[in-house]
Amino acid sequence: MKHLLNPLDLSVEEIDEILDLANDIEANPEKYAHACDGKKLATLFYEPSTRTRLSHEAAMMNLGGNVLGFSSADSSSATKGESVSDTIRMISCYADICAMRHPKEGAPMVASQYSSIPIINAGDGGHQHPTQTLTDLLTIRSEKGRLHDITIGLCGDLKFGRTVHSLIHALVRYENVKFVLISPEELRLPSYIRKDVLDKHNIPYEEVVRLEDAMGELDLLYMTRVQKERFFNEEDYVRMKDFYILDAAKMELAKEDMLVLHPLPRVNEISVEVDRDPRAIYFKQAQYGVYVRMALILTLLEIKVS
Ligand code: CP
Repeated sequence: MKHLLNPLDLSVEEIDEILDLANDIEANPEKYAHACDGKKLATLFYEPSTRTRLSHEAAMMNLGGNVLGFSSADSSSATKGESVSDTIRMISCYADICAMRHPKEGAPMVASQYSSIPIINAGDGGHQHPTQTLTDLLTIRSEKGRLHDITIGLCGDLKFGRTVHSLIHALVRYENVKFVLISPEELRLPSYIRKDVLDKHNIPYEEVVRLEDAMGELDLLYMTRVQKERFFNEEDYVRMKDFYILDAAKMELAKEDMLVLHPLPRVNEISVEVDRDPRAIYFKQAQYGVYVRMALILTLLEIKVS
């Protein structure tokens, strides 16, 4: 049985197949409308979510299946002290596949060791968010036409932002991808990713503090919010939270075909005036998240639709 805990659980070929399937689902949704009849998805969210939980649920419903689960640890028996390993043993009796978000790094991996159904990591602490990465890859491939030969700027909270960590792991496997890491000193990409992923594979990257200095060379700008929930004190968060604000003036420094992505939720880091710019594709990106999660559910459940 296969789980999705980390983007590297999928080979480049497997990712291509999922993205191709997602494109076919987008083009022919009716073909897939009963693919998961009688199947159940459990969404176990120990941490808040809008997009990831609801897009997994929409994905399963679009496939004809049903959903069950909880949207906060407070409404589950975790409050009574039940462990993730015991919980997943129960859920394996109730559902065919499970998407789990947890504030602790590695919790979905622990669940996978006790589960008899596929586990999808829907975000674990500041670690990984592989279904967001599939969403990002589908968005980039569909809107840019390629996943190779790109210069991508990753801007904001690169220290705690799990979407960025997962995206880097996935993109280093494509040819001629350059990263521009745009962050304040305190929110730099962790050294274990710089050294073990970028340096180890001789991936070109530069680190800059000012967004304006990077704009002109980017094919893609991936904005992220400062991850309030991972800060140890409010004061540090308040100091950092508005460090970057992408506005119309900064967009004028960018290439005409540079695209702006954001995993969302947005706080202040993208001014609402940018929403009107055709290069801003973050809401479309969220729509791609439904197609790609439909493709992922079919793949993990080994359901083929002809
Ligand atoms: N992108 C993302 O993970 O959003 P949610 O936290 O709303 O699920």
